Amino acid sequence: MALNVIMMGPPGAGKGTQAARFARERTLLKISTGDILREAVKENNPTALQAKAKMDRGELVDDDTMIAIVAERLTRPDAARGFVLDGFPRTVAQAQALDEIMERRGCGPLVIVDVAVPEQELVRRLAERRICAVCGTNAAAGDALCSKCAGPLVQRSDDGREIVRERLRVYQNATKPVLDFYRGRPTFRVVNGAQPPERVAQDLETMIDDAATARM
Ligand code: AP5
Repeated sequence: MALNVIMMGPPGAGKGTQAARFARERTLLKISTGDILREAVKENNPTALQAKAKMDRGELVDDDTMIAIVAERLTRPDAARGFVLDGFPRTVAQAQALDEIMERRGCGPLVIVDVAVPEQELVRRLAERRICAVCGTNAAAGDALCSKCAGPLVQRSDDGREIVRERLRVYQNATKPVLDFYRGRPTFRVVNGAQPPERVAQDLETMIDDAATARM
């Protein structure tokens, strides 16, 4: 049966880190809406350039655009075994649209994990984060160049202090209600994301396997 996972959490919680790892280990498709938008921006796609202005202000891109991107991605054959979603849904409207998509697909449970991290730690992580200017990969602490492609490391364009504050505010107002939308489901779990990444990954594996067998 397909395994479908949503990685929720505030900016800097480690959603991307854990989604990539879990998807790799289970050979599932990872869909990161932030990465898809950043790739589209590099290709000078006109819709993406409009989206970039919002991303650079720490605001959300509109629901219709994001729902269309995810709906299209989920119809491709490589999504049939299941997926790990990173960065979607971010509004209740997106969560409702995802439920409709899942109903049409009719395969496998939808496991929702909230990666919880205190705000002070989020601010620290985002201030310190460096990414590769060429391929966008997160750098590990102490790296001088990208470990994947040897590209130069830079601060992500939305990781400046003021923009991070706005992203956290948007998360509280628009995305936290999505947790309430899911909280009553037997497939909803919360993981302590303030632990070392290895430990978060172990807890996630256990929780996701447990939730995947829970009855709706
Ligand atoms: P997106 O790219 O999704 O950004 P985000 O949600 O703000 O999340 P981040 O990528 O900053 O953090 P993360 O939780 O993935 O953490 P990471 O693993 O990187 O979205 C960017 C923008 O695109 C949005 O603001 C919006 O404009 C737009 N957008 C995207 N999706 C949208 C949607 N559905 N609707 C509307 N708009 C949308 O880790 C962060 C750092 O911490 C890294 O340096 C990492 O190495 C480190 N780290 C990770 N785990 C740990 C740990 N356990 N301990 C210590 N450090 C850790």
